[in-house]
Amino acid sequence: MITKLIQPTAEGYNIASQLINSGELVAFPTETVYGLGADATNAEAVAKTFVAKGRPSDNPLIVHVSNAEQIYAVARTVSPMAKLVIDKLMPGSITIVLPKSSIIPSIVTAGLDSVAIRMPLSVQARQFIDKCGVPISAPSANTSTKPSPTTYSHVLEDMQGKISGIIVGEDCQVGIESTVLDLTTDTPTILRPGIVTASQIQQVVGVEVARHVSSSGRVVNSPGVKYKHYAPSCPVALSLDDDIDKITTHYNSVVAMGHHAVIVTNTNSQYANCNVVRLGCSDNEVAHNMFGTVRQCDKQYNYIIIVYNSHTELANSIINRLSKTAGGNII
Ligand code: TXA
Ligand code: MG
Repeated sequence: MITKLIQPTAEGYNIASQLINSGELVAFPTETVYGLGADATNAEAVAKTFVAKGRPSDNPLIVHVSNAEQIYAVARTVSPMAKLVIDKLMPGSITIVLPKSSIIPSIVTAGLDSVAIRMPLSVQARQFIDKCGVPISAPSANTSTKPSPTTYSHVLEDMQGKISGIIVGEDCQVGIESTVLDLTTDTPTILRPGIVTASQIQQVVGVEVARHVSSSGRVVNSPGVKYKHYAPSCPVALSLDDDIDKITTHYNSVVAMGHHAVIVTNTNSQYANCNVVRLGCSDNEVAHNMFGTVRQCDKQYNYIIIVYNSHTELANSIINRLSKTAGGNII
């Protein structure tokens, strides 16, 4: 299959929407990460998504919409709390889980009676969805287990020859995936943390928001969280403090084992005689840069030590991703 590179122009959106409406896959930019789009109402089209990504079929997809009316078509019911979130936080980098309506086939939700819905902030994303005229199911447009794509060229690396088109859109501003908020339970629960924080949601809904923590023994009701994620092909170690002695000792020990190592860091510290790539200091810069930097370092080196030292609320979302990138290898 030839993967068309499609410009984000009126003519490009025409081409992209024709592909979607004939049951093909088209990757598109959003402000979080690139998505791998299919017509969410077409079960055969959606099935291709799982094949192209190598994604387990029990991991449900997010349905993307371009306007609020579409949410009311995709969801069976919209609670008053959900309405508040829709009115105050959407479009935005948040996904809400609501009871599913019958227009969404069960392959999208992996058989669940709920559906995850997101209205991206990205204008390019909404123009594309709008032109398609149908809700668009889309996981992140990476090969399953790999770091999420934040530029169209990341998508090309993973999906060339496997999908019909890629919209050559903007680089993703945010850089990590949306906050997933379950609104099907009495207590709103964050299933995946993102750039929209628990405090921001609490301000809107007026009640405490629970955070889903699988290690505490609670039931994992977001199927995706149990799978390997965001991992490059080389080994990764993660330090959540900036203990320079510890970090350089680890670096030197993996170099002694023959590794070509690199330290990827949000600090300004000097690590003597080490290869160092800076991620930027603020959490927003780190979120924006981290997946692309990990992809790039995976090509140039064969051992990555990530040093991330931050204790803000947003840091939780970043650490959630980085711990998976490191496969839990915290030093
Ligand atoms: O920012 C984003 O959310 C990006 C862009 C493309 O919109 N999308 C994305 O999709 O990250 P994906 O497929 O990589 O992650 C979707 C997450 C998974 O953890 C999945 O298990 C969860 O959302 N999810 C989807 N439907 C669900 C449902 N009905 N109930 C609970 N969790 C759900
Ligand atoms: Mg993903």
